[in-house]
Amino acid sequence: MSQPDRNWAPDSWMDRVALQQPTYPDEGQLQQVLDELTKLPPLVTSWEVESLREQLTEVAQGNMFLLQGGDCAEIFSECESSIIASKLKILLQMSLVISNGSRKKVVRVGRFAGQYAKPRSEDMEEIDGVRMPSYRGDSVNAAAFEPEARRPDPQRLLRAYERSALTLNFIRSLVDGGFADLHHPEYWKLGFVAHSPQAAEYQKIVDSISHSLSLLQTLAGANMGEVHRVDFFTSHEGLHLPYEQAQTRQVPRRPGWYNLATHMPWIGDRTRDPQGAHVEYFRGISNPIGMKVGPTLAPDELAFLLETLNPRRQLGRVILIHRFGTKRIEDCLPPLIQAVRKAGQKVVWCCDPMHGNTRKTSNGIKTRNFQDILSEVESAFEIHSDLGTYLGGVHCELTGENVTECLGGARDLKEEDLQRAYKSCVDPRLNYEQALELAFLIARRMG
Ligand code: PEP
Ligand code: CO
Repeated sequence: MSQPDRNWAPDSWMDRVALQQPTYPDEGQLQQVLDELTKLPPLVTSWEVESLREQLTEVAQGNMFLLQGGDCAEIFSECESSIIASKLKILLQMSLVISNGSRKKVVRVGRFAGQYAKPRSEDMEEIDGVRMPSYRGDSVNAAAFEPEARRPDPQRLLRAYERSALTLNFIRSLVDGGFADLHHPEYWKLGFVAHSPQAAEYQKIVDSISHSLSLLQTLAGANMGEVHRVDFFTSHEGLHLPYEQAQTRQVPRRPGWYNLATHMPWIGDRTRDPQGAHVEYFRGISNPIGMKVGPTLAPDELAFLLETLNPRRQLGRVILIHRFGTKRIEDCLPPLIQAVRKAGQKVVWCCDPMHGNTRKTSNGIKTRNFQDILSEVESAFEIHSDLGTYLGGVHCELTGENVTECLGGARDLKEEDLQRAYKSCVDPRLNYEQALELAFLIARRMG
């Protein structure tokens, strides 16, 4: 935990330029909503945040692995039990595969329970000569291309807070009820996967883990349930600064300020201007913070950002989520690794193989090639190992649903397959099989 900085306050970001913020037609209404949000209870606790930090300290030292994943953007209409449970299931299955291959404990951080605000390349969208504000995530406006839907509505911030709370409540109840217990991997089965190409390999791992668990239990003569319970942490892009500020709190008996809307907020690649409002906000909170790092970040700028965000060089404080694309990672990553080393900083290195590999099909659908995703992860493992750093995690857009949004994979999805089950409102996600295949690759690389 960090000491409060006298020159920082939850609203000191307001003196800086805040990119990617919606323009509300009525500031008074926004203020009313923010006043309400400020009074509502926090979604997570500082104990949980500190527990995540301890685990990330282990990741930074090479003892654990971070698996961060979920939707590009959550949507209100998908706050449903089966969809939430499927996301947990795929994260649990992936972490089982990874920890079995790597012999390291996996920290699971969902892109969920708050991933409702999106950065956009254009403020306005134009279709057939009609211009409207861009869709900025369900916490701001709705995706339909209609004036009413696209108008930013502050009430949506309350809905986002409530949906996040409902999601978290369900996740916590499932975990408390034993859903994530290693003794019961059968709870994590997804109905449609029996014929999936990875099903047999996965089942072998489940059987061997169940076998070692029952062996341990016989030897220890006790229930290992407590020991083997696995948890989930939450994360989202800390983009909408008034919302994040409203959830920024002090707690009894701990110094500093915590963002209690989520365990691990991150700064997006478009809002990491060292002089900008987002960096100003993030430097003052005590949470572990992620920062997306794309090809436009210069090495000395990264050193400056780390000095601002982590002047005391705490382990587990900064997670650098690099997303260069498979074609650029070899040029872009090594200079940044050198810069971090030269600055005397130690970070968690995490590879996002999604956002540098986005492309459009001939008929304008946003997609990604699964092969590019695998190859960026492979390169990341190689580069870090060559330079003596530890690739401590991956960050993915994925879903437990059987969607067709990314090309390739074991079923070799083609452009014409995309329309079958393309559901994402923003970026394309890995489906269940692709996500599991990625986990097998990670397990092999780490094994
Ligand atoms: C995202 O994670 O959905 C995103 C917008 O990423 P980036 O900031 O890396 O572009
Ligand atoms: Co995205």
